[in-house]
Amino acid sequence: MANDRKPLISGNWKMNHNHFEAIQTIQKLAYALESGDYAAVDVSVHPPFTDIRSVQTVLQADDVPIALGAQNVHQADSGAYTGEVSPSMLAKLDVTYVIVGHSERRELFGETDEVVNAKAKAVLAAGMTPIVCVGETLEERNAGQAESKVAGQVAGSLAGFSADVVAALVVAYEPIWAIGTGETATPEDAQQMCGYIRGLVGDQWGSAAAGGVRIQYGGSVKPGNAPELMGQPDIDGALVGGASLDPDDFARIVRFPLYQ
Ligand code: PGA
Repeated sequence: MANDRKPLISGNWKMNHNHFEAIQTIQKLAYALESGDYAAVDVSVHPPFTDIRSVQTVLQADDVPIALGAQNVHQADSGAYTGEVSPSMLAKLDVTYVIVGHSERRELFGETDEVVNAKAKAVLAAGMTPIVCVGETLEERNAGQAESKVAGQVAGSLAGFSADVVAALVVAYEPIWAIGTGETATPEDAQQMCGYIRGLVGDQWGSAAAGGVRIQYGGSVKPGNAPELMGQPDIDGALVGGASLDPDDFARIVRFPLYQ
């Protein structure tokens, strides 16, 4: 390996699986993976909030080293925010990683870089690791604005963070046109943007931060394309949507090193 960043493969279940289905899925995934897989790759699953306690119970009972994740969080720690879930509630359930600023949150629920920044800070304050999502639309890419869009999101979402904090967090580059469409960025395009993001981090936070931050690619990652995408020097894992709902497919993605 060219660097010592351990890849992180994360399954974002989105609004799928009730808690019974979640239990079945995590049991099958745990069965499919072996200790050697966890030695090579960090794995997280991000079920809906209503499933987290059920999944936690399965993982704890069998001592399964899959990290528990969430898909979203509110930035306040408690209070009159009807319908929201706080960072400390997630931390109490052994949640390790929290996705913030997923493009669906940004596009469908109006989350700005300022909100994403506040959520990432709140996640860190509760002792968890944010997975900060960035990515451009097809229109922006076609207009030659992909890099400027992503640069703005990185600067805004990570504003005020120290170099040590940036070194330990996760950024997910997810071109919006590749999410759920079956259209994957080519390994070259994905590498180009992930390398660009690492360069931005280096410019603003220094080489240790750039060398430490893990950058995932997301957007129609499947068992067939994962090995080549994960083989790129600046891609340190994947944020997987659709293919993470099937435990066999997701396990094959986690096991990408065997197919490289
Ligand atoms: P997809 O979703 O793998 O279904 O394209 C990725 C994501 O939204 O994180």
